[in-house]
Amino acid sequence: MQKSCVITTKAPNWAPDPSDPCAWLRGTATLEGGRHSPQILRLDDAEAVGEQVAEWLLASRLADPNLPLGLATGRTMEPVYAALARQFAQRSAAERQRVRQQWCSFNLDEYVGLAPRDPRSFAATMASQLVTPLQLEAQSVLLPRGDGGDPDAEALRYASLLASKGGLGLQILGIGANGHVGFNEPPCGPEVVCRCVALTASTRDANAFAFGGDPDQVPDQAISLGLSEILNARRILLVATGRAKAEVLRRAFEESPTADLPASWLQGHPDVTVVADAAALGG
Ligand code: GLP
Repeated sequence: MQKSCVITTKAPNWAPDPSDPCAWLRGTATLEGGRHSPQILRLDDAEAVGEQVAEWLLASRLADPNLPLGLATGRTMEPVYAALARQFAQRSAAERQRVRQQWCSFNLDEYVGLAPRDPRSFAATMASQLVTPLQLEAQSVLLPRGDGGDPDAEALRYASLLASKGGLGLQILGIGANGHVGFNEPPCGPEVVCRCVALTASTRDANAFAFGGDPDQVPDQAISLGLSEILNARRILLVATGRAKAEVLRRAFEESPTADLPASWLQGHPDVTVVADAAALGG
């Protein structure tokens, strides 16, 4: 990809000046829209959360196929994709065919150094949890390529491809224990775009479950859509389950946005819904 033809993705115009992240605190007049509190849907457990998110995912594909879906991986998403497969199977043959024909999704991230067929890659995760159960065209479920050898060039390619599709419609997000979304590790501001990122030790620990429990086997880099692409999505569903996410979820929406908690920049988006179980909401 010639750098000259890269489409630059700018942060939304309500984002604070990255050189002055405290602009949020002062509520300066230059900020349009300011901070937003999310809609919060509290459900009993992870299974109920999975069913609800799957229902909205399927509805969005059928109702608004024009913009790509933004998808995530992780343990939080496993019940979502399992419910999606169940709900999809109950749809009519015509609806299933329409969903397949209209499917276009971009995953948030992929580990650097893993080929799509590596069972530990997010591409392999999506193949087993989504592509196969829904019998989707593999090329309609898009992720960065982790094995290309030039992650910076791949990040630019992926961002440009997303921009060429008009950006994200509905973005599904999980949240990391350190407040990351995608692999946007702290510290980072709302203006960061798709890029190759270094993974923190805590994130490698948290993701070691997919690498035989050994954090040293977790790649130390990933390609991730940035907060800029995420915040340009038309609508965001943040999905959180389990007591372990309660504190970071509370901080993300109760404290002032800060680079130290990347999920807190979601306060600047006008249409965020948190779908969480009672445990993640401190219940
Ligand atoms: C990884 C993924 C994120 C995900 C996070 C939480 O870092 N890149 O997209 O939200 O883990 O994962 P889990 O749902 O397993 O807690």
